[in-house]
Amino acid sequence: MFTKAIVRKPAETFANGISTVNLGKPDYNLTLKQHDAYCEALIKCGLELTILDANPDFPDSCFVEDTAVVTKYFGIIARPGDPRRLGEEKEIKKILEKEFDHLYHIEEPGKLDGGDIMQADNKFYIGLSARTNLAGSKQLSEILKQYHYDVYSIPVCTMLHFKTGVNYLGDNNLLVHRDFCSKDDFKSYNRIIIESGEEYAANSLRINNYVLTPKGFPKTKAKIEKLGYKIIELEMSEFQKMDGGLSCLSLRF
Ligand code: GLY
Repeated sequence: MFTKAIVRKPAETFANGISTVNLGKPDYNLTLKQHDAYCEALIKCGLELTILDANPDFPDSCFVEDTAVVTKYFGIIARPGDPRRLGEEKEIKKILEKEFDHLYHIEEPGKLDGGDIMQADNKFYIGLSARTNLAGSKQLSEILKQYHYDVYSIPVCTMLHFKTGVNYLGDNNLLVHRDFCSKDDFKSYNRIIIESGEEYAANSLRINNYVLTPKGFPKTKAKIEKLGYKIIELEMSEFQKMDGGLSCLSLRF
């Protein structure tokens, strides 16, 4: 069970952040509204929220997940892989120092975005992407192995982060983008393959008794419902414009 989450309000500079999709500029007021709804959903899932003030110096900083990897017992401060985001992790460190007795750090030359790290029970998958390099992956892997987790590295070639395409719902259920579906690593899971046109919904997020899923992807929603989960659908249009998904918007522990 998760009990807490950290989120950060989107900054007025949000539209100046990094984006690779051609969906237009986000509307700031709508972004704030969607973020408020996201926070309400986390509260409905039973989480106590720490809401950090917006940081206009870092337009992407509402995507807090990329700045750290957290478990119930320890945290790891990441080292964002895009130079434009390097430094976001410093403020998160101050917050996590209060939460965890054991806090580790990814050090240069390691690069690592939390969006590339997925936990599935006692396993961790590390996506090797444009944001997470071998050195970052090795450092994280060594820390996780001290805690007896099994750790696997997976190349990410066609998307921003590993969790853009693969997300663990619990109970052995794995949402998988088709680019990952033939991977041997995932054959032991009940794989729910995301249908063409619904790729964005691969980033759905299990929190306690609910699965948060982006609005507008009915086939994925139906598949998740069929597994017996209660769904909270959220409008994510403005975050999607900036390459962000549901998991990116919080750190949960
Ligand atoms: N815009 C989110 C990211 O590039 O990390």
